[in-house]
Amino acid sequence: MAFNLKGRSLLSLQDFSKEEISYLLTLSKNLKDKKRAGIKGDNLAGKNIAMIFEKPSTRTRCAFSVGAKDEGGMPEYLGKNDIQLGKKETVADTARVLGRMYDGIEYRGYKHETVEILAEYAGVPVWNGLTDQFHPTQILADFLTIEENFGCLEGVNLVYVGDGRNNMANSLMMGSAIMGLNYTIVAPKELWPKQELVDKAKELAKDSKATIEITDDPVQGVKNADAIYTDVWVSMGEEEKFEERIEMLKPYQVNMEMIENTENEDVIFLHCLPAYHNTDTINGKKMYEEYGLTEMEVTDEVFESKYSRAFDEAENRMHTIKAVMVATLGNQ
Ligand code: CP
Ligand code: NVA
Repeated sequence: MAFNLKGRSLLSLQDFSKEEISYLLTLSKNLKDKKRAGIKGDNLAGKNIAMIFEKPSTRTRCAFSVGAKDEGGMPEYLGKNDIQLGKKETVADTARVLGRMYDGIEYRGYKHETVEILAEYAGVPVWNGLTDQFHPTQILADFLTIEENFGCLEGVNLVYVGDGRNNMANSLMMGSAIMGLNYTIVAPKELWPKQELVDKAKELAKDSKATIEITDDPVQGVKNADAIYTDVWVSMGEEEKFEERIEMLKPYQVNMEMIENTENEDVIFLHCLPAYHNTDTINGKKMYEEYGLTEMEVTDEVFESKYSRAFDEAENRMHTIKAVMVATLGNQ
């Protein structure tokens, strides 16, 4: 059954029902097959797409850009120094201008409120490419990857380890609650998600039969995990927190001991990327010089192991983001 999602924005996963998210995942699979068969489409022919990025991006930017071009669309990158957004011009005014020129708008930035204002005023679909609070398009890619590995989402034990109150932990919680995964956050108490959001997730979980649990025990918390997920300990925009986060999160590093503690030989490792798994980056070297760490949220051993699906997830960003654009803006 096809769903009519035309004209809809994606600000957070709660904007969509379980059936609508399933439809987006099926469409993603079809578009992935199409891409692999070398078939170009025209679902976005004649569509101009604005991509606003107040924070840097590799995957999200490239997924929107290539995803749009594969279907005949015309993406345009608007970086933080390219437009006046919020500086000399209000977000609402910018939204009204862009909405008269573009058919769809992607936004990555800080406050979640900004993407909400864009959607309220633009008059065209607005897609959240990451805010401080949520990262919904990433979860579509993660769920596609989980489906590819386990054949389903319902009943899969997904354990998120690390900063339990960041955009990834929040969005995975909402997505799991809607789609029926058993979701556990393993994090120190200081980094647990807001109770209000947990309550919302538990409410949604009543329909899907998902379970939502939070623990600070890194040994018991990962037991029976089908998938272990982690993300950076310090998100974009909070770089001054490295020292305190390292102190809090060292016991929550995903390493081989943690993988063994799952007691599941078929467990998979997921990471939205970018990841601190060695010292081969400028920041990685700095972390070593300042804190003596050669790896942070995940060891290189796990990152490069047979358990890791990080690059499948990265590829799936493109197929799922393309599906969101086609479903909400496409010609058919
Ligand atoms: N995972 C993710 O959103 O990556 P980018 O920051 O590179 O877009
Ligand atoms: N939590 C990370 C996710 C990056 C994709 C951040 O916001 O920096």
